[in-house]
Amino acid sequence: MTKVTFISANGEHRSTVDAAAGQRLLEVAQSDGQPLEGTCEGQMACSTCHVIVAAEDFGRLPPATEMEEDLLDLASHVTRYSRLACQIHLDAALESLTVKMPGAVRNMQGR
Ligand code: FES
Repeated sequence: MTKVTFISANGEHRSTVDAAAGQRLLEVAQSDGQPLEGTCEGQMACSTCHVIVAAEDFGRLPPATEMEEDLLDLASHVTRYSRLACQIHLDAALESLTVKMPGAVRNMQGR
């Protein structure tokens, strides 16, 4: 079980949920109602699942692949702690994980 804390883009709202090992962070975020579109459903073709991982947790995650890095280059509000939520698989060894929503959600085209 991993305690996942989501922080809103403006830092005002926090929500902590329990996630089971093996779950993808994108799914955990979406079931908590976080504003991550995840348009390509984890096919690494969109970057709308971009999150900013807390600095202290970043190094505890397996590193991003080159493909993930390339996609992150296209996302807005990218920081050195940015990751794609669809590429983060929760692991039983990870007790807690804190991520923040990026500054702007790329949903310009609406739904
Ligand atoms: S959901 Fe599209 S890259 Fe993660």
